[in-house]
Amino acid sequence: MATEAVTMDKIVSLCRRRGFVFPSSEIYGGLGSTYDYGHYGVLMKNNIRASWFEAMVRDRDDIVAIDSAIILHPRVWEASGHVEGFTDPLVDCRTCKLRFRADKLEEEQCGRKPSKHPGETPECDLTDARQFNLMFETSVGPVRDAGSRAFLRPETAQGIFINFKNVLQLARRRPPFGIAQVGKSFRNEITPGNFLFRVREFEQMEMEYFVPPADAERWYRYWIDERVSWYLRYGLRQSHMRVREHTPDERSHYSQGTSDIEYLYPIGWSELEGVANRGDYDLTRHTEYSTTKLEYVGPDGERYTPFVIEPAVSIERIFVAMLVDAYDEEEVAGRGRTVLRLHPQVAPVVAAVLPLIGRHEDMVAKARGLYEELRRRHVVEYDDNGAIGRRYRRQDEIGTPWAFTIDEQTLEDDTVTVRDRDSLAQERLPMGGVRAWLDDALASDWTTPKAD
Ligand code: GAP
Repeated sequence: MATEAVTMDKIVSLCRRRGFVFPSSEIYGGLGSTYDYGHYGVLMKNNIRASWFEAMVRDRDDIVAIDSAIILHPRVWEASGHVEGFTDPLVDCRTCKLRFRADKLEEEQCGRKPSKHPGETPECDLTDARQFNLMFETSVGPVRDAGSRAFLRPETAQGIFINFKNVLQLARRRPPFGIAQVGKSFRNEITPGNFLFRVREFEQMEMEYFVPPADAERWYRYWIDERVSWYLRYGLRQSHMRVREHTPDERSHYSQGTSDIEYLYPIGWSELEGVANRGDYDLTRHTEYSTTKLEYVGPDGERYTPFVIEPAVSIERIFVAMLVDAYDEEEVAGRGRTVLRLHPQVAPVVAAVLPLIGRHEDMVAKARGLYEELRRRHVVEYDDNGAIGRRYRRQDEIGTPWAFTIDEQTLEDDTVTVRDRDSLAQERLPMGGVRAWLDDALASDWTTPKAD
């Protein structure tokens, strides 16, 4: 039985304790809201990325991949509207010297009195709001002048639009078709925070789906449904997800319709992924600024600028949502355990191989043999260090779905026990069948055992 509510602090503490995520540059005192991923964090991110790529590209005939540069021609960001409009309103407090987003003051904490919001105490002395551009500037080449000014991309999407013509010609596509990209994006957020939820450097997964204008609304609805189904398939609880349509005044400058897929994070309902109907804004603007015509011309001469439907998300927001959804503290036989009930295809380690007695030579030999066999196909761990209960709990905390234990009986009849992370049920399997059992278990549908 789960006992405690999940807080962001608990997730941060587990991530640190088990080596998923560390504060970055710690030996230099840290760099606010910047994080480095440890071994299990890297494995889990790889799994999230692979699962997204499988659903968005590998399993489909209508979407191709691209990997564009991070630093693009500066005109790209003029055409996209980012130079002019990718801003947040900023206020300074002259008393505590902190900066806040003027439109999110109710989510911020006063620097002197954290129980209050900025502007709520008599000492708060806020400046008027001014617009602050979120793009990180850099310069290209050895001379730093106006001509060398460039930006780190704040979204991967523009690298897709400027390659529209290449893909149309070289990949021989016709609408509806999509181009998908995964890669780092950078935003100089005024108030990053809530662990990985809002960071300045994050890995986006975006797909731009080009459609005939008359079909845009249908495809917009289609992609909202597809993306919600993807989250359910990977175990997020339905009751912790909802779709929220933006009001017209909330939408970005390019949008004809946007819906947020929201997750109930410990900070409340917040955007996990956005799905937008970008209309023909981007292709039209890049046509205008580059003078290269970005349009579709059909075999019978029909020509039009496709509309674009865009599902866009960061691995970071999925990573946090999946950890929050999976986290449980419970009591088993009078002892507490923390467990991550992650989808087996997302969990950093698929299975642990454990000799019951770590110093028993025959058990160790058998366990190592099984480990060597399984690691050829899967990420598995071998552990013979400490009491078996402690080893199980360690695996529970990193979300390992199954543990194979080699004991006295293995030496007699060549069977092993498999322990299920969630139900704690144990069954015996012939040693020779473990690999096939694991392949099957991983390929099977999975639903979270947590109540919805
Ligand atoms: N190309 C459209 C675009 O970038 P967005 O709503 O600004 O739209 C898309 O960002 C997604 O990127 C968000 O839904 C969120 O998952 C993620 N994201 C945006 N800013 C982020 C940040 N500072 N930290 C982590 N993830 C972020």
